[in-house]
Amino acid sequence: MPATPQAIPEPLLRQVSLRVEETTGLHFPAVRFADLERGLAEAARAAGSNDARVYAESLLNRQLQATDVDTLAASLTVGETHFFRDPRAFTYLETTLLPDLIAAKRGGDRCLRLWSAGCASGEEPYSLAMILHRLLPDLKDWNVTILGTDINPKALARAATGVYTEWSFRDTPEWVKPRYFTARADQRYELQPWLKRMVRFACLNLVDESYPAVASNTTGMDLIICRNVLLYFAPVRTVPVVERFHRALVAGGVLVIGAVEASQMAFPGFSSIPAPSVALFRKQGSAAVTPGAVVSAALPALSPDAPPSTHAAPVAVVGPSPAPLPRAPAAQPPAWNAGSGSDSRTAAQRARACADQGELAEALVWCDRALADAKTAAALHFLRAGILQELQRDAEALLALRNVLFLAPDHVLAHFAMATIERRQGRRAVAAKHLSNARRLLAGRDENEELPDSGGLTVGRASGMLTATHDMWTMTDAAGGGRQA
Ligand SMILES: C[S@@+](CC[C@H](N)C(=O)[O-])C[C@H]1O[C@@H](n2cnc3c(N)ncnc32)[C@H](O)[C@@H]1O
Repeated sequence: MPATPQAIPEPLLRQVSLRVEETTGLHFPAVRFADLERGLAEAARAAGSNDARVYAESLLNRQLQATDVDTLAASLTVGETHFFRDPRAFTYLETTLLPDLIAAKRGGDRCLRLWSAGCASGEEPYSLAMILHRLLPDLKDWNVTILGTDINPKALARAATGVYTEWSFRDTPEWVKPRYFTARADQRYELQPWLKRMVRFACLNLVDESYPAVASNTTGMDLIICRNVLLYFAPVRTVPVVERFHRALVAGGVLVIGAVEASQMAFPGFSSIPAPSVALFRKQGSAAVTPGAVVSAALPALSPDAPPSTHAAPVAVVGPSPAPLPRAPAAQPPAWNAGSGSDSRTAAQRARACADQGELAEALVWCDRALADAKTAAALHFLRAGILQELQRDAEALLALRNVLFLAPDHVLAHFAMATIERRQGRRAVAAKHLSNARRLLAGRDENEELPDSGGLTVGRASGMLTATHDMWTMTDAAGGGRQA
């Protein structure tokens, strides 16, 4: 009989979280220990162990190998992405930044080098390839490199197939699918082979000191895009990454980071360029063109079957680093839990936006970030509970709802949500109590009053909803069946 898997005790989780941080940059503070524990259990299974605790201990007692990092990366990273994610950012790239770069290079070497660092399953670098195809009618006369790297080899393997489900096209412009994909019989979409060939993928851990290096094709970049990656990093681990990106860029090259994550980091040696939805930083020390200075020509008509010639060199996974260039002094970023109220508000907005997009794991990280600065915000605990419920993590959702009721005992929807979860878990008496609390809290209130954190639900409509739920439960119980707790 297999041994019973052990839960991982908190002191061990604390030690492992430091080990994981050193190895991958990924930050698992106490508030994310449940995610860490779940990821370790998955990694343990992938490593052939059925005991997460023993596996976790083993991570502390030995030199971790590349296969260990692969296993951890596959289980602990969040790979949420889609084509043209954050359309405003891509519009800016397509209408301003890349046309300016192209105009600056057209009379010169016609060589463009773009790198999507932390590319997950490849949607981001392929979106860049589509933009270049739209912007360059003479693509075959250019020497284009688009590199996609990630720490997670499983995600990269998916990227290399160029086959995607409908989910990768959420919030994606309508022209993308018919122009660049072939629909398959299995409801998936396959990228046109010539576009697939425009992007090269390689496994690269951003924590490694081995880049930039010619061997990994990570030098002389005109543009590095690294969005929704460093938000998962411990703040102190982002500093050397930004410094290495600085070295990987040509003078005047541009680093693109997600707007909110960038607000909590430092970018020594870069000057910031104002842009919508992303944070752009230009490597100082050149007379680079100012975005928008070149009037963007109307986008060329597409010639979908013109196979572009690209000269992207195959890349090695890692390689020896060339002698480092002089480094700009690294400023310390502010600690994530010491931000201002506006940081917390922005993180909360980001959490809601991700939750609306169905990017639940990422929404949870943003929500925790917002909560770090606003622990007493009942609305944030409620948002967290909603995300956890959608992730089917009922026990944690209940804890979050208890926090809501501790801070706002009259929160009708928290009672209602607890009722729903308790009922689902078979604890009917507890569920009935919460439902009755919610109904009592609505009694005598103005029908048109909007309930907090409800997205506009009025007292009148909520009353109808709770009564209908009460009647349905009563009928089901009368019909018999189910457990009573
Ligand atoms: C949420 S996805 C972002 C994908 C894409 N950049 C986007 O914005 O849509 C985050 C990616 O960062 C990768 N990542 C996390 N830690 C990394 C590290 N140390 N080195 C390289 N990639 C890492 C994860 O594997 C994951 O695929």
